Amino acid sequence: IGLLFVMVGLLFGLTGCGRTDMSVFDPAGPVAKMELSVIMTSVYIMTGVFIVAMAILVYVLIRFRRRKGQDLPPKQVEGNNWMELTWTIIPLILMGILAVPTVSTAFALDQKQTGPNTMNVTVKASQFWWQFEYPDLGIVTAQALHIPVGTKVNLKLETTDVMHSFWVPRLAGKTDLIPGRVNTMWFEASQPGEYQGKCAEYCGPSHGVMDFVVIADTPQQFQAWVQKMKNPQVQPTSAQAAEGEKLFAQNCATCHAIAGTNFKGVLGPDLTGFADRPKVAGVLDNNPTDVEKWISDPAAIKPGTKMPKLPLNQQQISALSAFLEGLK
Ligand code: CUA
Repeated sequence: IGLLFVMVGLLFGLTGCGRTDMSVFDPAGPVAKMELSVIMTSVYIMTGVFIVAMAILVYVLIRFRRRKGQDLPPKQVEGNNWMELTWTIIPLILMGILAVPTVSTAFALDQKQTGPNTMNVTVKASQFWWQFEYPDLGIVTAQALHIPVGTKVNLKLETTDVMHSFWVPRLAGKTDLIPGRVNTMWFEASQPGEYQGKCAEYCGPSHGVMDFVVIADTPQQFQAWVQKMKNPQVQPTSAQAAEGEKLFAQNCATCHAIAGTNFKGVLGPDLTGFADRPKVAGVLDNNPTDVEKWISDPAAIKPGTKMPKLPLNQQQISALSAFLEGLK
């Protein structure tokens, strides 16, 4: 019994049940709602089976316990067609009840959404960050996926290296990103807000911090964001930022792109509109202090990251940060 409590405790601790912003029990869109309904059907069935099985066990333990003066072995029973049929047919019925909604939901979720209120996004995962491409809008961004509220988003999921898994618990279940193939899924956010996302497939030392966020905007906010991303503010806003831009050209542009500039690197995250993102590298707050912390020693935040520790002094790192925080 003690072991059982420890295991149940670990189960809840390890599933992160304390994080309400990542609870599948608080769905924020139609896909997550459909999936929760399948989850609850299976929870109800399992709870019923558990209660009945435990009741029978307790009954048998008491009813057929060894009584005083009983020394002979109990009557031996072999085979009982009626009981065997019962415990074969009942599970078959339960499996059927579970299979019907599971299969129909799986097919509904696999269907590419069409019509006026739909949008296409290509997700590309790399160790340990996310790129989001809007093929119809000509926009590329990273770490923060903007979507308009009430729109069905068709996702194409690809990886540039190892297996990852795309998971936004309040919007939809996980879908793996597998080398050499393209997976698809769709989701929709019913309410504006930020929905935390995680990589859900072990992919290396920084798997646990391969975070991203889905930002569901009102249609007006989304249009404003699209316009900003198409015509971003890239001019340095101060002498320090201008110094940062030079350093960026020398040290960062081989890996990072910024729309509206000559910086076209593709190995690392696209940094267009960097200052508007809620997080840096998916896990740090987006403020000058944390940007400097990230640039100073990326591997201290994300072990195994391909972003190198650059041979820059504090003043140069501050200049780079000033340039990045001007990208809106
Ligand atoms: Cu990417 Cu785990």
